[in-house]
Amino acid sequence: MKTVLIAGGNSGIGLQAARTLLADGHRLILLGRDPRKGETALASFGPAADRASFLAADLSTHDGVRDAARRLLDAHESIDALVHTTGVLTTTESRTTDGLHPFFAVNYLSRYHLTQLMLPALRSAARPVVVMMTAAIPPADGADYTRFPEFQPFNFTRDRKPIQLANHHYAAHLTRTEPGLAAAVVNAGAAKTDIMRDTPWYMRAGAKVLGPLFFDSVETSAHNVVEAVRRDDWTTPGYWGKPGHFNQHTPITLDPADTQSLVDISRTLTNA
Ligand SMILES: NC(=O)c1ccc[n+]([C@@H]2O[C@H](COP(=O)([O-])OP(=O)(O)OC[C@H]3O[C@@H](n4cnc5c(N)ncnc54)[C@H](OP(=O)(O)O)[C@@H]3O)[C@@H](O)[C@H]2O)c1
Repeated sequence: MKTVLIAGGNSGIGLQAARTLLADGHRLILLGRDPRKGETALASFGPAADRASFLAADLSTHDGVRDAARRLLDAHESIDALVHTTGVLTTTESRTTDGLHPFFAVNYLSRYHLTQLMLPALRSAARPVVVMMTAAIPPADGADYTRFPEFQPFNFTRDRKPIQLANHHYAAHLTRTEPGLAAAVVNAGAAKTDIMRDTPWYMRAGAKVLGPLFFDSVETSAHNVVEAVRRDDWTTPGYWGKPGHFNQHTPITLDPADTQSLVDISRTLTNA
């Protein structure tokens, strides 16, 4: 039985991954912002809820991440897998209390920060795994990191790629610096979840019309995450670009100088 922490596990793709891993017999810890969604998720698990718990946390701020990590480390000596399916889809300008854009803070920095703080528990596992979910962003050099980390003013079209690619760089960094730890990035594909809730009306309307034609099922979007936790035969750092196809695995090879620079900035921001 593995102990699996899913940040974003109270909703959507993370919740689906939690359901499948619970059915396998694993122990699950779900992390999310909305306690009502957490309670509803636990109630939906039936008797398997005995092996699940929920922790409410706002991971968009440094203090929120630190508080969550403190509570998690108090309760769990060892974590086998840390899955990040937290995410917001917001195209407008706004700032967290730390002065960062929420898309950057939630979809990348909270993953770096929480993982760094959870390393003592991950190092206690036989083969620790860290999986980060993004959109379809194949690992490739050439992204513009000059606006990292302020992204001021935020421009979704321009800034989403370097922010999401920071996850790939962090997977490469973890592989290099944490012997025995396997790290990966998974493309979510396109699934009908709560992710569109903060988007402009025309994006939601477009998704409603085109969704039935192009959307993956939530099960398909969760498949590669689940397999990455279940199996120990994949090479790190890796990227799964096609939802539902665990055999289509791309090694992450990126410029180590870019990786070091992004990690240095992340460390300075979080002290972690
Ligand atoms: N669905 C898609 O088509 C799609 C496409 C591309 C990428 N993705 C990515 O796939 C991942 C899973 O998304 P999803 O589709 O399953 O959407 P979702 O149902 O909205 O799930 C997102 C999760 O992130 C959590 N979250 C957001 N802000 C948070 C914060 N400040 N603190 C703590 N938790 C926070 C949410 O918790 P609450 O609900 O409690 O706020 C929720 O559990 C995300 O990383 C998303 O960016 C999805």
